[in-house]
Amino acid sequence: MFGKKDKEVKPGSVKELINMGIKEYNNMDQINDVCAQFRQLLMEQIDRVDKMKSDERPPKDFATLTPVTIGVCPGDGIGTIICAQTERILKALLKDEIAAGKIVVKDIEGLTIENRLAKNQAVPDDVLAEIKTCDVLLKGPTTTPKGGTMESANVALRRELDLYANVRPVKVPDQGIDWTFYRENTEGEYVLGSKGIDIPGELSMNFKVTTEPGTRRIARAAFEYAKANGKTNVAIVTKANIMKQTDGNFSRICHEVAADYPDITAEDWYIDIMTANLLKEDRRSEYQVFVLPNLYGDIITDEAAQIQGGVGTAGSANIGDQYAMFEAIHGSAPRMIENGYGDYANPSSMIKAAEMLLRHIGRTAEADRLDSAMEKCTETEKKLVVTGRPNGATAEEFTDYVLETLGE
Ligand code: IPM
Ligand code: MG
Repeated sequence: MFGKKDKEVKPGSVKELINMGIKEYNNMDQINDVCAQFRQLLMEQIDRVDKMKSDERPPKDFATLTPVTIGVCPGDGIGTIICAQTERILKALLKDEIAAGKIVVKDIEGLTIENRLAKNQAVPDDVLAEIKTCDVLLKGPTTTPKGGTMESANVALRRELDLYANVRPVKVPDQGIDWTFYRENTEGEYVLGSKGIDIPGELSMNFKVTTEPGTRRIARAAFEYAKANGKTNVAIVTKANIMKQTDGNFSRICHEVAADYPDITAEDWYIDIMTANLLKEDRRSEYQVFVLPNLYGDIITDEAAQIQGGVGTAGSANIGDQYAMFEAIHGSAPRMIENGYGDYANPSSMIKAAEMLLRHIGRTAEADRLDSAMEKCTETEKKLVVTGRPNGATAEEFTDYVLETLGE
């Protein structure tokens, strides 16, 4: 199975038998190594489950914290551009509270691709320590190197800060679309994504992990959101007909949680047909809240964002019990930088993320003001349009327009 065939050895010869013995031995050696690797992964995951089950820290009440520390990590690629513009808006909206010391805005450096590669860490230790001194984070997109073993900074931050709920709203008011996705954010296909098994030339395997407490908490978050916002329907989206253990349990646990919410209908959907249904104009507005495993959530939220007007228009919240991180739904767009269009990147995704941040820390009035200003700038008045190209406004010009609309 492993290694090349020795063509010079005659079939049935003693040499062939000896070689087979050696190969068999190498084979077993390799299999034992892989099993040891798997054992280690399994132990780590069991340990993670135990930690989740025994964590008795009360969830932080972000809305009543004083002061609230907001960390700002620009990231790289277009991240530095759109993050700097969004920070201007946040600082303008919060200027009085910043002056009064009720809100602290901290710029955090070092989450750049250059620094991460130099330190060979997805999130360098000193940067993570700095991030952990904050309560919430506004984070620009970060580049993830393809291949190799360097993990994505997003995935590492979501894990390190235990940001288990990836909340992604998508709205198209004139079509009646008002969707909120609750994507599980710390396990599924992602948790061991950089720790798969590779037997070069033969096979590779990755693992998907669904845990009891990990699923229960995302389901709880989705149903609580539905209840608090008068929603009557939660779609549980899996591929439980194929991924019988992981998705099967995900669905089962979501239904167990749903039993506590008798006024909300919990419906099972498979991800493939749900992907199609989001394009069905006559029925898609019936969906309200979605709860789904990590990878399906990643993919379908890009589709949903596209229906709203593009990934550049969608914000994303990563919520945990102790920290929360707000970012664009999309990546760092290195091609835009290479083509010299970086300044024309659309900051709307990050501005929407900032709106979610404001809501999360209980600054509802500021969040509402920003929401109506954005609606005016991107839907009703549209004095400037960002196209991502020099035929549209720059990120800075658009932000000036939003600030002017806010009266700041
Ligand atoms: C997202 C992004 C990330 C993900 C990437 C940048 C690692 O696509 O937030 O959806 O896959 O989760
Ligand atoms: Mg994505």
